[in-house]
Amino acid sequence: MELLKKYNIALADELKKIVQIKEPEQLYEPIQYIVNIGGKRLRPILTLLTCDFFGTDFKKAMPAALAIELFHNFSLIHDDIMDKAPLRRGKETVHEKWDLNTGILSGDAMLILAYQLFEEYEPELFRELAKLFSKTAIEVCEGQQYDVDFEDRDDVTIDEYIKMIDYKTAVLLGAAMKMGAIVAGASESCKENMYKFGRNLGIAFQLQDDYLDVFGNPESFGKQVGGDIIENKKTFLYLTALNKSETIQAEELEHLYTINPREPSGKIETVTRIFKNSGAAEATQAEISKYTNKANELLEQIKISEEKKTELREFGEWLMKRTF
Ligand code: IPE
Ligand code: IPE
Ligand code: MG
Ligand code: MG
Ligand code: MG
Repeated sequence: MELLKKYNIALADELKKIVQIKEPEQLYEPIQYIVNIGGKRLRPILTLLTCDFFGTDFKKAMPAALAIELFHNFSLIHDDIMDKAPLRRGKETVHEKWDLNTGILSGDAMLILAYQLFEEYEPELFRELAKLFSKTAIEVCEGQQYDVDFEDRDDVTIDEYIKMIDYKTAVLLGAAMKMGAIVAGASESCKENMYKFGRNLGIAFQLQDDYLDVFGNPESFGKQVGGDIIENKKTFLYLTALNKSETIQAEELEHLYTINPREPSGKIETVTRIFKNSGAAEATQAEISKYTNKANELLEQIKISEEKKTELREFGEWLMKRTF
């Protein structure tokens, strides 16, 4: 997206600076690795963009944006351990390339580096940003715990699933945007509405991530397609397929989500077919649109120009249609 280029270029330079390798290399090399293999840089872009949209030089939001991206990358290293994921951004995951302990400790260090970045702000801003960051980080942990708990539960509801993805993913997008608004000194109501906008977009974003995990193209997706099926993740696709299926098919699906075959391709194929034939795939797309529209409605109450609102709407559209 054209709009994102200017933020992306500025970010790339700054990120490079903060992930220099020093001693002990075993700690810092994986940090540089995970950051350098890229990613969409969505969250820090949102921080910079929001600050810009409220009329403040986006560079003032750079430390907050970098903190958000470091935190996100930390959460990915640990998430890949928890999800036993082999691939991230088209490359080996940190715990596969190195080992489990390296993934744990490099991840921990990234979380601390993220906090340190807020030290660049004067006391009042520091306090407000650090407070939001801590609240968000704890919620992400809670979301991740629900996600893991749900793997072994057979009574997860759609509401529980939405709460889980709100916590593990959406609150960070909300916080990313709110931080941009905080740095720009926006009004309380604008900060709050930006937060809610990001949070609704974040729910749509995670629904799309779950969709791509099943229906994505392995070439462009950059992660193992079918990973959520292998791990028995109780996604919207799964819960909706159960609700929409006849008893026999629902029982088959439920059974498949209690087994962990050594060779999972048969399971992935059958589950993918059920997700498609039951209408769960379509229902997921509709749910993505629902949350994107909810986000867009909130824009009405935010004091930025119509032109900027259009850009944010287009950003949401782009997110919804992404293939990676
Ligand atoms: C992956 O986030 C984790 C989720 C919350 C779905 P992204 O899809 O933003 O990952 P990168 O940073 O672009 O690789
Ligand atoms: C991850 O959700 C959310 C966090 C990292 C906090 P997923 O487990 O779906 O993310 P991916 O698909 O591995 O990127
Ligand atoms: Mg994962
Ligand atoms: Mg996960
Ligand atoms: Mg995923």
